[in-house]
Amino acid sequence: MTRITKETNMAQDKPSIILISDDTAINDAVRGALLPGDDIGIEVQATTLTAVNGKAVKLAEEHDLIVFRLNPQTDRAAVQELREKSGGKGTLLALSDAPISLAEARELKKAGIDEILPFPIPSSDLRDQLLELSGRPLQLPALIDRSATRPGKVIAVAPVRGGIGASTVAINLADQLQGKTGMLRKAAQHRVALVDLDIQFGTVASALDLDPSDVFYRMATETIVPDRTFLAQSLQSHDSGLTVLAAPDKFVPLDAIEPRQIDAVIGHLQREFDYVVVDLPRTLVEWIGPVLTRCARLMLVTDTTVPAIRQARRLIDFYGEDRFDLPVEMVVNHEKKPVLPASHHSEAAKVLERPLKYWLPDDPRRARAALDRGELLSQHSHGALSGALRRMARNLLTETTATAEARPASS
Ligand SMILES: Nc1ncnc2c1ncn2[C@@H]1O[C@H](COP(=O)(O)OP(=O)(O)OP(=O)(O)O)[C@@H](O)[C@H]1O
Ligand SMILES: [Mg+2]
Repeated sequence: MTRITKETNMAQDKPSIILISDDTAINDAVRGALLPGDDIGIEVQATTLTAVNGKAVKLAEEHDLIVFRLNPQTDRAAVQELREKSGGKGTLLALSDAPISLAEARELKKAGIDEILPFPIPSSDLRDQLLELSGRPLQLPALIDRSATRPGKVIAVAPVRGGIGASTVAINLADQLQGKTGMLRKAAQHRVALVDLDIQFGTVASALDLDPSDVFYRMATETIVPDRTFLAQSLQSHDSGLTVLAAPDKFVPLDAIEPRQIDAVIGHLQREFDYVVVDLPRTLVEWIGPVLTRCARLMLVTDTTVPAIRQARRLIDFYGEDRFDLPVEMVVNHEKKPVLPASHHSEAAKVLERPLKYWLPDDPRRARAALDRGELLSQHSHGALSGALRRMARNLLTETTATAEARPASS
């Protein structure tokens, strides 16, 4: 039976969306992507486009946007019929939770689908599309404080092997993403949270001279899904301006943590911060899934040895099972960017199907000094390593189109 949930009263003049999907994950994601200030009506029909087809024309007339879970086998005919009968009314957005080929996507677009998005998709990207396709202009209305409502960007950092420098990258990248300006580089433009998800062996707290946190320990032992208050109690402020969620110093069995708990942690932080940098563990556990789903970038830290590149390839494939359009970028640590790439560099890029984008030079003296003092590379060194991390952060800030320019500097 078709279950109809009326989410909001539809006023005449506000855009409305009809969501046709029998998948709760999709339904939750679409509803969750819209924020209260978006002022868009959404109606959900827990069925399929093909099943609803007789009524689809009416739905297209009543709503600005039809969002549906794509079934590539059956939906083409349904879309074609709808397009013929509706005379071009309504916009169609398909969410595909199964991989489809480019040729299939082209055929579906030809049949009349306006946009096809892979699912899962980061909540902020989905929201952008929902606003745009339903006719709600992205920049307006001016009354919405976008810096307060738009979810922060998640940047995940993962190592291809132990000791490669992933935590160093995560910590210093988080620092640089604050985009500090001014003579003394004190005024942060973006609020940044740093989360140590290397729950068993995390080093973020000690690297920043902070205390371990028991939040993940309590999540594992008390099966708590953290709310805002619980999480707020566990966050620590670092002198640099970073807000840190550290790993515990007690042993936590990794399989005691559930994906929904990690999802809640990251989701809350996205609401409060412009950037959420996550230091991922080397262990492949189910609960990194929500981080992959939500991330705007996954920075994979590697070197250019054959075993490391092979492992990177394996990891990209593994992570890609959770999300096929995962935005993975390579960070080569301990190596200066070559003026001309050597043949093994080109070979590595080919194997990885992406460029070796960022290069961080080896600088044991400064890396060690920062670690020993519990400081950031930016605090005392102006060396090549610090400079490379700054450029990487700048690039990421541009690429992820930071939206919090108007936010006051964090204290
Ligand atoms: N570019 C670099 N040049 C010199 N030393 C570095 C560089 N990057 C990291 N290091 C050093 O390498 C060591 C390991 O770094 P880090 O803890 O960041 O690695 P990791 O990949 O997080 O390791 P783990 O497997 O323990 O999580 C540290 O002593 C750090 O100071
Ligand atoms: Mg580490």
